[in-house]
Amino acid sequence: MERPCAIVILTGAGISAESGIATFRGPGGLWEGHRVEDVCTPEALAADPALVHRFYDRRRAGLAEVAPNAAHAALARLDRHWPGELLIVTQNVDDLHERAGARRLLHMHGELMSALCAACGARAPHPGPLPPGECCAACGAAALRPDIVFFGEFPYRMDRIEAALTACDLFVSIGTSGAVYPAAGFVAQAAAYGARTLELNLEPSAGSRRFSETRLGPASRLVPEWVEELLQSTQSSPMSR
Ligand code: OAD
Repeated sequence: MERPCAIVILTGAGISAESGIATFRGPGGLWEGHRVEDVCTPEALAADPALVHRFYDRRRAGLAEVAPNAAHAALARLDRHWPGELLIVTQNVDDLHERAGARRLLHMHGELMSALCAACGARAPHPGPLPPGECCAACGAAALRPDIVFFGEFPYRMDRIEAALTACDLFVSIGTSGAVYPAAGFVAQAAAYGARTLELNLEPSAGSRRFSETRLGPASRLVPEWVEELLQSTQSSPMSR
């Protein structure tokens, strides 16, 4: 029997835009009032920890005011029903994928709801405010910081992501501008190993020409349509390479 196709899905800020979380590079983006280098680099954290911690405290608190949209719900549905390999890799630090019910999920750029110990590297759930100097439960050092991958730092779980990219049959990118590496390079990597590649985005992105197919429109419409199409297609004929 043919195996069902293996899928890797990359999501970016565009999938959460219709939930009310501003994208990074759009007008009124997340960095409004702050230059990226003032809040999202190790140098910024060292220079002004109170500012950086406050910035992410506000983002974390803001999560209580937003909810997953139809695109998150559709990916969670796919995760529940897809019989083959599936990995959702998100660049987003919000928790909307998991709140929608997705389980086969990796946060490659960290999570607002988590704290990272700068001394021992332990990561632990941290839903509340995180002032500088909070102590790590694992090692006791007063070194907890927001669990966000800053510019110049290495994204999480790259070994797992690269293994999935080289083995997938279908790579789908949703709501990301293709401006930040290594995520922007995933499409080329998957294609080099023979995957079909599909982009779902509001407008053409920096990486659009690298995809075998691009569909333009809001994620809340495109993603449910694509998921429905995929689940229907497997009922008649299983897809695989
Ligand atoms: P960007 O803000 O760069 O790009 C968002 C993309 O989503 C754009 O291409 C928009 O056209 C598209 N978009 C906007 N609204 C949409 C909608 N309703 N439906 C579908 N698409 C929509 O955000 P990212 O690509 O996620 O890194 O940014 C990548 C990384 O850059 C982030 O993870 C962050 C940032 O610096 C870190 O924090 C480490």
